[in-house]
Amino acid sequence: MKPIKKAVFPVAGMGSRFLPATKASPKEMLPIVDKPLIQYAAEEAIAAGITELIFVTGRGKRAIEDHFDKAYELEVELEQRGKTKLLEQVRNMLPPGISCAYVRQAEALGLGHAILCAAPLVGDEPFAVVLADDLVDAEVPVLQQMVQLHAATGASVLGVQQVPPEQTRQYGIVETEHGPGPIHKIVGIVEKPGPEEAPSNLGVVGRYLLTPAIFDQLRSVRPGAGGEIQLTDGIAGLLKQETVLALPFEGVRYDCGSKLGYLKATVAYGIRHAEAGPEFREWLAHTGLLQHGR
Ligand code: G1P
Repeated sequence: MKPIKKAVFPVAGMGSRFLPATKASPKEMLPIVDKPLIQYAAEEAIAAGITELIFVTGRGKRAIEDHFDKAYELEVELEQRGKTKLLEQVRNMLPPGISCAYVRQAEALGLGHAILCAAPLVGDEPFAVVLADDLVDAEVPVLQQMVQLHAATGASVLGVQQVPPEQTRQYGIVETEHGPGPIHKIVGIVEKPGPEEAPSNLGVVGRYLLTPAIFDQLRSVRPGAGGEIQLTDGIAGLLKQETVLALPFEGVRYDCGSKLGYLKATVAYGIRHAEAGPEFREWLAHTGLLQHGR
C-alpha cells in the first residue's frame, strides 16, 4: 500500500461570504491571529506526513503562491533591520523537503471538478483533500488521525462530525454502518440534503483521504447540487466499488468560511497566542464590551 504523500488544496473559490474583504485577496489568506488559513491547512498536512502540496487555484489567487514562495525583498529588509525572529519565520514558511505545485481551475465548476484538475499531479496514488475554510483545532491533527485509519485499512476515509439537524443543507451527509470500534463504513452520501432527506446528522468536514479511483468517478459525474460537479457525488460512486470509511474525529472545528466561525476561531486561537494571548485573555475577561458595545 502506498503511503499518502500528496495533499490537494482547492483554493479557487470566490469567498463571496467574506466580501468585501475577499474582493482583491483570497479568502484562504484571511488570518487567524497572524497566520493565514491556508498555512494552518498546509501545516496540518505536513504533520500527517504529506510532502507534496498541490494547490488548485484560480483568478486572483496569486497571493497564495507568493505566500509559500521566497520573498527576497522582504528578507533583505528584515535582515537589514535586524529583525531576526521575523526573518526566520518568513524564511521557514515550509520545512525542508516540502514541495508546492499549482494548477489552475479555469472555471468554477465545483469541488469535484477542482479535484479532477489535480489528477495529472496526483497520479495513481491515494491523496488527501484539505478545505482550508475548515480549521480544526485538535491535539492530534485531524489528517493524522485519518492517515492512521487509512494505513490500517487501505480504505478512503472522510472526516465527519455531528451537525445540528437544521444545518444538514450545508454539508455532505453520510449514512454509515457501524463497524467494530469507532470504524463507520459509509453506505451512502448526499450533498446538502434538507433535514427531512438527510440520512443522518454526520456531516463531512473538509478532510478527505481518497484512492485514485475517485478520478474515474468524477469524470462521469453530472452536475449535482447547485449545478456543480460535486466531490460528494463522486464519492457516492466510489463507495459502490470500494470501502469508504467515516472517521468521527476528535477536535473542535471552526467553519472559517462563515463570519461567525471565523470570529470564534480568532478568539480561541487569540487567547492561546504566545505573544498576544495573555493580555487578550485578560482584556476579554474584563472588557465591558458586551454591556456597552464599545
Ligand atoms: C463542501 C462540500 C461538502 C462538505 C463541506 C465541508 O461544501 O461540498 O460536502 O460537507 O465542504 O465544509 P462547501 O462548504 O464548499 O459548500
